[in-house]
Amino acid sequence: MKRRAAAEAMTLVADGMTLGLGTGSTAAHFIDLLGEAVRNGLSVKGVPTSEDTSRRAEAAGVELIEPDETTVIDLAVDGADEVDARGDLIKGGGGALLREKIVAAVAKRFVVIADASKKVAELGAFPLPVEIDRFAYGLTARRIREALVAQGLPGDIALRHRPDGAAFVTDGGNLVVDCRARRIHEPALLDGALKSIPGVVETGLFLRMAERVIFGTADGVEVLR
Ligand code: 5RP
Repeated sequence: MKRRAAAEAMTLVADGMTLGLGTGSTAAHFIDLLGEAVRNGLSVKGVPTSEDTSRRAEAAGVELIEPDETTVIDLAVDGADEVDARGDLIKGGGGALLREKIVAAVAKRFVVIADASKKVAELGAFPLPVEIDRFAYGLTARRIREALVAQGLPGDIALRHRPDGAAFVTDGGNLVVDCRARRIHEPALLDGALKSIPGVVETGLFLRMAERVIFGTADGVEVLR
């Protein structure tokens, strides 16, 4: 299903484009397909959203550039952890939310690829990742909890850890707090409240950013917008 969604997104790619390359297992399918197309003569440049993606794209033979080497990203393609009926997203399960959001926001077109299991009626069952600065992270986490509770949501948050028990650190050197909000009735309000807390670097709420969402299904693709 992930591969099908990635293959459909490939139909939007044209010669000469600069592409934002997302992070995660679905985005990895897109990168691999892009690599195949490059070997068959396609000429594109990629802006990776994580060190993992950078390594994968390099291995696939996709030419990479630094974000500041270009003024235009024609198309960004990335996965998602949850997608609601409006095309609003939770992202950041892989911890690349900040770079993913910077690239998606700059791109002329932001297209999401996902398997059909990512479709939800309301965002929030997937814990919302919030990237925070390391300085005074305990105090910032406490304010995040208070912001959740003030919106009637459970203040159930956890600092993300790696499998070896060490704190998870993003490519930008920050920490991630996962918020088990369960049902986010007002995503824009929550996003605003979280971003107003000094120490919060970015949230995993990607609201009104996706131009199109391509779901891979058991027997084809479904396109939202
Ligand atoms: C990484 C992300 C990913 O796009 C998201 O976690 C989906 O990953 P996958 O395609 O592996 O299900 O936001 O920060």
